[in-house]
Amino acid sequence: MKANRIHNFNPGPAALPLAVLEEIQESFLNFRSSGMSIVEISHRSKEFEAVLNDAVARTQRLLKLSDRYRVIFVQGGATLQFAMIPMNFLADGRSADYVNTGTWSTNAIKEARVLNKAVRVVASSEDRQFTYIPAKIPFTPGAAYAHITSNNTIRGTQWRSFPDTGGVPLIADMSSDFMSRPFDPAPFGLIYAGAQKNIGPAGVTLVIVRDDLLKLVPENLPVMLKYTTYTSKNSLHNTPPCFAIYGVHLVLKWIEETVGGLEKMAALNRAKAERIYGCIDASGGFYRGTAEPAGRSQMNVTFRLAGEELEKRFIEEAAQSGLGGLKGHRSVGGCRASLYNAVGPEAVEALVEFMTTFAKRNG
Ligand SMILES: Cc1ncc(COP(=O)(O)O)c(C=O)c1O
Repeated sequence: MKANRIHNFNPGPAALPLAVLEEIQESFLNFRSSGMSIVEISHRSKEFEAVLNDAVARTQRLLKLSDRYRVIFVQGGATLQFAMIPMNFLADGRSADYVNTGTWSTNAIKEARVLNKAVRVVASSEDRQFTYIPAKIPFTPGAAYAHITSNNTIRGTQWRSFPDTGGVPLIADMSSDFMSRPFDPAPFGLIYAGAQKNIGPAGVTLVIVRDDLLKLVPENLPVMLKYTTYTSKNSLHNTPPCFAIYGVHLVLKWIEETVGGLEKMAALNRAKAERIYGCIDASGGFYRGTAEPAGRSQMNVTFRLAGEELEKRFIEEAAQSGLGGLKGHRSVGGCRASLYNAVGPEAVEALVEFMTTFAKRNG
């Protein structure tokens, strides 16, 4: 551990690569010889535009996006996307499919319904407390889009592969697993991710949108709620969250240049998750994974101990050993280790060691 930093398993905002934090620290007072901080320069300066354009280019390269896709930066969190998507793409007389795999999918469905949009929930895992990812989903031919949540941060489940929608544009909330693994972008009409888990500081949402969906955007929407405002102005219609975008640029550079791309990022993430699930499964029931094995998330490992008292002690003693952020979401309780990109294998080894000795002492 460097500079008294803990092993950070927070669910978001979450750990950032140390090298990125150090680069921010080093360049904070005088960004690229401008004599100003990144938080002081104009968003229309050539220095900031270079940062923004670099973040876009790295996203395109890392995900191998075709030129049909635009990369934009939007404020309002993933939560604003829950509303913007139906506002922009769900015209009266059409309906959209949603798959409900947990709290965030439920919130996306609620927001579309607030707008009186026609929403069809075509599959849900609510019958077993959102512990799995539904299979064989009856998507509606001709639906405007099909919305999924690729990783369910609270319940600890994740889509291993993406469903075949039969040509209906897929829209995914990838907030908690974006840039953690490669995937084929072709079926996607839109992808969105709040930056604060895998790709940067809080304050910005990265959105990837395909050209055919942009044609559906109605004229009569407020300017900041239209995707075309962002795509036509390179996310610079008004002042963007410059610092957050700068952070995203640095994290994407780290993934590309230090880690070596998304295949390598995915291999690291897989190994980390396997290590923790291995520890859980070898504990003879002391730790109990809450997600069904086929749907286990590589980003958020959720588990329970024998009782709430023991869980409380586990979390407290872990914190005393320099392992932070292991409390489950307040809505479900239990424990959760978030293993986003910047959580290194050494943090995972420290957690496994702690879990093993805690189980021995209390089993
Ligand atoms: C999958 C997912 N979607 C949406 C959200 C909400 O994101 P925001 O706080 O950026 O609106 C979260 C937050 O944890 C999340 O994990």
